[in-house]
Amino acid sequence: MARKKITVVGAGNVGATTAHWLVSKELGDVVLVDIIEGMPQGKALDLAQAGPVEGYDSRLIGTNGYKETANSDVVVITSGIARKPGMSRDDLLNTNAGIVASVTEEIVKYSPNCIIIVVSNPLDAMTQVAWKKSGFPKNRVLGMAGVLDSARMRCFLAEALNVSVENVTAFVLGGHGDTMVPLPRYSTCAGIPITELLPKETVDAIVTRTANGGAEIVSLLKTGSAYYAPSSAAVEMVEAIVKDKKKILPCAVLLEGEYGINNLFVGVPVKIGAGGVEEIIQINLTTEERAALQKSAGAVQELIDKLNL
Ligand code: NAI
Ligand code: 2OP
Repeated sequence: MARKKITVVGAGNVGATTAHWLVSKELGDVVLVDIIEGMPQGKALDLAQAGPVEGYDSRLIGTNGYKETANSDVVVITSGIARKPGMSRDDLLNTNAGIVASVTEEIVKYSPNCIIIVVSNPLDAMTQVAWKKSGFPKNRVLGMAGVLDSARMRCFLAEALNVSVENVTAFVLGGHGDTMVPLPRYSTCAGIPITELLPKETVDAIVTRTANGGAEIVSLLKTGSAYYAPSSAAVEMVEAIVKDKKKILPCAVLLEGEYGINNLFVGVPVKIGAGGVEEIIQINLTTEERAALQKSAGAVQELIDKLNL
């Protein structure tokens, strides 16, 4: 079986760490692209030289152009500016929209059949920019946020329950922003809803901490935002595609009436496989949960309106 080819655009914190997880899991050969001369080349070479020690055979190329990305199966877009203390994800809107649009144009030129995973913030709006610019069908463009937000919630829940993180599942829906919608009712420990295992105050505190999960790390790091968990989350999505796992993960996808939302990328559970987004899973929501999802979608729509797409 031929190896898969995965391009990562943006070789900064998230991009380089994505490349790191990709090769350490041998998910394919990796092309790392950035505008900074020498930087993606240096990081690719450095990672390639860890191969003999770690035992991976994935090939790595670093480049400032797109020729080398030709015929990629999956492209992860992480290029753009990241949050600094005091900045919200939305402050990144116009700069990153320009970057994501120009990167998508190049990607599509060289890899017309690829699946695009967007990571750049503000996530849901940037995924919509990439989809519009690509001209791709909606199943081939998706955004990473829900996997990260759910992983944060799982981490906090496992700590509170003093159990393995592997026992805990969590669901976070909506846009990747302060209005995201963590769903305790659909979060479980070994199949048991966490609402039956933890007091309401603990669950509420974890929901709030999850929604502020990105800002918590920004305020600690001071010079940038999170990248280990974000890149790991993006790689889970790549793995589901290249291994055709049919994995159900919360991702930002184009909704066309599902959950009462129209023509907007928002995070919902989807089935991911070789075809990209293979199914949008519709779960029952309470009136309160549905209202929270609508509010979150409204916040994404406001950004889209500012962009005049
Ligand atoms: P970073 O600053 O470390 O890296 C960004 C890289 O993009 C830089 O190396 C920069 O040179 C490159 N870049 C800028 N313009 C480019 C262009 N036109 N073509 C190619 N490369 C270009 O930032 P970091 O921490 O890697 O974050 C990247 C993005 O991901 C940010 O927008 C951040 O907010 C977002 N992010 C999203 C998450 C999510 O859950 N969706 C989680 C974490 C970060
Ligand atoms: C995060 O959630 C900043 O979106 C980034 O860490």
